[in-house]
Amino acid sequence: MRLILLATVLMVGTTGCGGASQQQLPTKVTGSVYDMMTHYLEPAADGIWGSAGFVITEDGEVDLQPTTDEGWFLVEHAAVVVAEGGNLLMLDGYAADQADWTEYAKGLTAAALKARAAAEQQDADALFAAGGEIYSVCRACHNRYMNQPGG
Ligand code: HEC
Repeated sequence: MRLILLATVLMVGTTGCGGASQQQLPTKVTGSVYDMMTHYLEPAADGIWGSAGFVITEDGEVDLQPTTDEGWFLVEHAAVVVAEGGNLLMLDGYAADQADWTEYAKGLTAAALKARAAAEQQDADALFAAGGEIYSVCRACHNRYMNQPGG
């Protein structure tokens, strides 16, 4: 049994070298891109944006940055969700293509990892900058792919 297993692993390993990008992974997306956006990505991104920068209220300017370790951890959590979201967007079933879409998805992960680092360091300025970068990636991908027939 163990030998058969090893042989299988070796075979998979060898085929993997030839056409790694065409490999079929046993993944199945849980809904549409729209569901992914509204149920997964947007709430997590809000967790970052809602903790970065300032808002003007009736009482004046309010600093949104977390004031406790727990607060910063929630931002870190949100950033990890968004970062992993970039990987998820490349799954069969979400990915519109393997070109620009992939670039945007990777860009999302890269920007979210900056937000994670900022939250780890409790650096409000860096978090604000990373939040802006995340927003530009969302916008860029939407400009390219939203309201497209079939996309
Ligand atoms: C790789 C491309 C891509 C990236 C990156 C991306 N989106 Fe989207 N998003 C889409 C596409 C495509 C749709 C349209 C889905 C549909 O309606 O079928 C969409 C739709 C949405 C919607 C529904 C919008 C509406 O008005 O109907 C929301 C909300 C959303 N995205 C939020 C985000 C946020 C927040 C980010 C960044 C953190 C983000 N998206 C990043 C591709 C992307």
